[in-house]
This record gives sequence, C-alpha cells and structure tokens, in this order.
Amino acid sequence: MLELERLVKSFGGVRAVDGVSLSVPQGELRALIGPNGAGKSTLFSLVTGHLRPEQGTISFESRQIEQLRPAVRARLGIAITFQTVRLFRGMTALENVMVGAHSWTQHEFIEAALRLPRHFREEPKIRERARAVIARAGLEHWADSPAESLPLGQQRSVQIARALCSNPKLLLLDEPAAGLRGEERRELSELLSRLREEKLTMLLVEHDISFVSAVADRVTVLDLGHVIAEGTPAEVRGNEAVIDAYLGSVAGDGAVTGS
Ligand SMILES: Nc1ncnc2c1ncn2[C@@H]1O[C@H](COP(=O)(O)OP(=O)(O)OP(=O)(O)O)[C@@H](O)[C@H]1O
Ligand SMILES: [Mg+2]
Repeated sequence: MLELERLVKSFGGVRAVDGVSLSVPQGELRALIGPNGAGKSTLFSLVTGHLRPEQGTISFESRQIEQLRPAVRARLGIAITFQTVRLFRGMTALENVMVGAHSWTQHEFIEAALRLPRHFREEPKIRERARAVIARAGLEHWADSPAESLPLGQQRSVQIARALCSNPKLLLLDEPAAGLRGEERRELSELLSRLREEKLTMLLVEHDISFVSAVADRVTVLDLGHVIAEGTPAEVRGNEAVIDAYLGSVAGDGAVTGS
C-alpha cells in the first residue's frame, strides 16, 4: 500500500531523513520507533506532502505521489494525526470530528473551522458520518461536550476520529499515546487494535515499546535518519543495534522513557 524508496530530506546541514526505504502492506499496523530527532515526524510530513523529499520516491497504492500536494494525497486516502493536539476550542467533540469529513488543506481546514461551524452543524450527512465515527472511537458520551473540556485521552481520540471521518486508507499517528497513562493508554491501545482488525493500514510513532508490542504487526527503527532495524516487536526488542541506539534505557518492564 505504501512504498518509500531511498527518501532524503535535509534541514540545513542536518539530514533528517537519510535514504529511508520502507514498505507497508495493506492492513498492517507498522510502528516507527527511534530516539528524539531520529526523523520520524519528518518522514510523516514527506508522506502527507507537507514536506517534499530532495531524493527518493513515494508510492501509494502503486501510484507515485511525491510530487502531489497534501490536499490531493488526502483525497487519495492519506490521513494524519499530528504530534501536538490540534482541536478547535468552542466547538464540540462532534463538530471537531465533522471538520475531518473533507480533505482540506491545512489552510482551508482552519478557515472552515473558524468560519463555517454552522454550515457543518446543518449538514446532516456529515453529522451522521461523524456520529458513526464518534461511536467507532468510543466517544459517544463526549460527542456534545466542548472539545477543550475533554480529558487528554479523549482529545487524542477526537483527533483520531477526525482523521477517520475522511475515510482514509492509510492513517499516520504521530505519538498519539504521549502523555497518556493507565486507563487512557489502555483505551487508546484498544482503539488501535479495533482499527487494525478492521484492516485499516496504520503507521504509528510511539516511544513506549510495551505499547508498541501490544498493537503493532511490525516495527521499523529509525536512528539519525536511517532505518537501523525492522521486524516483529520481539525481533526488534532483541536486536543489539536497537538496544545500543535506543532501548539502552529500557527499564525492567520494557518501558522506555521518551517524549
Ligand atoms: N522544520 C525544521 N527545520 C529545521 N530542522 C528540522 C525541522 N524539522 C525537523 N528538523 C530536524 O530534523 C531532525 C529530525 O526531526 P524530527 O522531528 O523528524 O524527529 P522525530 O524523530 O520526530 O523526533 P521526536 O521523537 O522528538 O518527535 C532533528 O534534528 C530536527 O531538529
Ligand atoms: Mg516527532
């Protein structure tokens, strides 16, 4: 479904992504792990089109997409939830999810959310679809609450629900579990597992190797812009290079501290 070949992206002298090749089959939940600054978020931006690679190619469903604008890629079925929570205050959880029904560019998206909330409220089809996604994300009880009043875990779920509202084929999740604990982490893990059972293809950035092991089919490890390992969660956890570069700080229970 997604095929990255020798992608390169630098910022000044830093090669944030330095020759990354990656292949994700349909229906797989692939985790992307690696230390801070490894290039994980940059790789996501290359896939969504918010950044263009200097070298390399990106194929999505056998179609080359690295020259396409973000809005076009979104219409092809690529959705992302960003590393920082970006919900619209003053709108309910449901309305925030409704905004995702269209494949907006970043600019249009903000315009729409600021100016046209009534348009969304009056759009029964979009509302219906958003209700269904809210249920799929386990947010029924929060649908009509102001987004900013939700606990962090539910805010993250709203972000995921908004991405799902565009009916994506590929969902990129950039640290959706960051800052979540206990029950919230478990709920997120269950949501991702359900989406995996529905055969949604996902790329997940997450630092906690226990969390990753519970949900991911396979894991790709990035360090300094390079892929240093790839395999099942168990294979990656036992890989010397990965332990040296990243998992050295693994605690007894396998938890890794990270942002
Ligand atoms: N817009 C930018 N301008 C300049 N440098 C950037 C930019 N975005 C990322 N970088 C640099 O590129 C490298 C990779 O950053 P990136 O954010 O992709 O890492 P990451 O793996 O997502 O890290 P984290 O785990 O902290 O989120 C870092 O050295 C970072 O400082
Ligand atoms: Mg990042």
